[in-house]
Amino acid sequence: ARELAREKTLAGVRVTVTAGPTQEALDPVRYLTNHSSGRMGYAIAREAMLRGAQVTLVSGPVDLPLVPFVETRPVTTAADMFRAVRDLLPATDVLIKAAAVADYRPAQVASDKMKKSDQDLSIPLERTDDILGWVAEHRHPGLFVCGFSMETRDMVANSRAKLERKKLDMIVANNLKVAGAGFGTKTNVVTLITREGERELPLMGKDQVAAHLLDEIQRRR
Ligand code: CTP
Ligand code: CA
Repeated sequence: ARELAREKTLAGVRVTVTAGPTQEALDPVRYLTNHSSGRMGYAIAREAMLRGAQVTLVSGPVDLPLVPFVETRPVTTAADMFRAVRDLLPATDVLIKAAAVADYRPAQVASDKMKKSDQDLSIPLERTDDILGWVAEHRHPGLFVCGFSMETRDMVANSRAKLERKKLDMIVANNLKVAGAGFGTKTNVVTLITREGERELPLMGKDQVAAHLLDEIQRRR
């Protein structure tokens, strides 16, 4: 279809996208997760594919159709996602980390379903690996890394701190304070932040956000 036609501006470029939430098991029937739908990451994977990129999508558990012509690697936990990204990194030119990765997981996974008692329950948690933190220490020359950030306050300042700390080339800050933006919506309001400056995009569909984001990456790499 004509509306799908794109100039192949990313021909031969290997793009790895992470999308969706991770799930961290507590026992055989329960897990910790978040509200990520995966829509933003899937939209990026699709737009990159339409521009001719060779796209691998590392996807947490989501309820979305597979993207045609994109190699999807399903993962469940933050540890799974870490291994997938580590393995793909040497053959990646552009890494876009749209996934909402768990920062903590239960320190122990009960092998039987936990039974309730009359007492309150506390669950000891331990840190997961920071995938982008690891990438910062292992990146190869020529790799372009784009992170995402989710903040409910001081969005730009906090996102800028992550850009520096994780040695990112760009970070996409999700504006959670605006209607029609964030989790579970088909639209989003984001600010693209680089070392040089920042640009807030108006409310638009996640497919359009994906197009703007890839335009910006193409201008910068
Ligand atoms: N990220 C990651 N590995 C983690 C946690 C986050 O690679 N274990 C990535 C996300 O995919 C995202 C970026 O880091 O691209 C920022 O995620 P965010 O949760 O906003 O930042 P954190 O560094 O985890 O800080 P905090 O949650 O404390 O705000
Ligand atoms: Ca986090």
